[in-house]
Amino acid sequence: MNNADQGYLERRGQIEHYFDRTAAKTWERLTSTDPVGRIRATVRAGRDEMRATLMSWLPQDMTGMRLLDAGCGTGALALCAVERGAHVTAIDLSANLIQVAKNRYASLSPLAQGTSPSTNRGWVEFSSGDMLDPLLGEFDYVVGMDSLIHYDAPDLINGIKILSERTKRAILFTFPPRNPFLAFAHTMGQFFPRSDRSPTLAPVSQQKLRNALQKTIVTQGWAEGKTTRISRGFYTSQAWEWVRS
Ligand SMILES: C[S@@+](CC[C@H](N)C(=O)[O-])C[C@H]1O[C@@H](n2cnc3c(N)ncnc32)[C@H](O)[C@@H]1O
Repeated sequence: MNNADQGYLERRGQIEHYFDRTAAKTWERLTSTDPVGRIRATVRAGRDEMRATLMSWLPQDMTGMRLLDAGCGTGALALCAVERGAHVTAIDLSANLIQVAKNRYASLSPLAQGTSPSTNRGWVEFSSGDMLDPLLGEFDYVVGMDSLIHYDAPDLINGIKILSERTKRAILFTFPPRNPFLAFAHTMGQFFPRSDRSPTLAPVSQQKLRNALQKTIVTQGWAEGKTTRISRGFYTSQAWEWVRS
């Protein structure tokens, strides 16, 4: 194992600990319809807008298409893709969040779950583990909503490269834009108490990311697509689409 792998594994361990223990209840509530405070309400609104944006970049009809929801948390985006007929693999480091996702999926009607024969909905398989695991197989689409935001640029770029090798059509991911750094850092401060070895964010400039991706995945036939920044109160994140050219 080299130093880069070691750094990734350490970071991944911190993230897992944070989302599986410290913040699991916070995330369960944030991603529910239960009331939250004013600050978290802006984060919820921003995240809803981000999810809607990412979904708007995917085909309306995804019947039979394979989608990886990479770092799915409690599974909201996965369920949107199921509604469009996709076959979704949804994976997260946190076994607790995966259990919440499974419970939410199970609480849907058979029609909404896609298990009724009279529907053209897709299905989802939730599991806990690493989204970069090669055993997950190949996908038409990969979406990483706010799941790569805690990794430094080298791990983020390496993650995109690994995912791109298993993706046929497009990868949609988000990253913390370098500006406005302070607003974003403050945002996440709401979630990540200092007392915990919580995963801070690693803001990165889009140009720096672009330069790095040009040297890695552009040479493998990938091209830059849409990009947009969602800023809602205490939430700021940049979405980026990369497509096979
Ligand atoms: C900010 S939450 C976002 C969750 C979900 N995508 C959403 O938007 O609701 C980030 C999630 O990414 C997950 N994550 C981070 N690194 C991961 C990895 N290497 N493999 C799987 N999940 C990962 C975390 O466990 C956490 O649940």
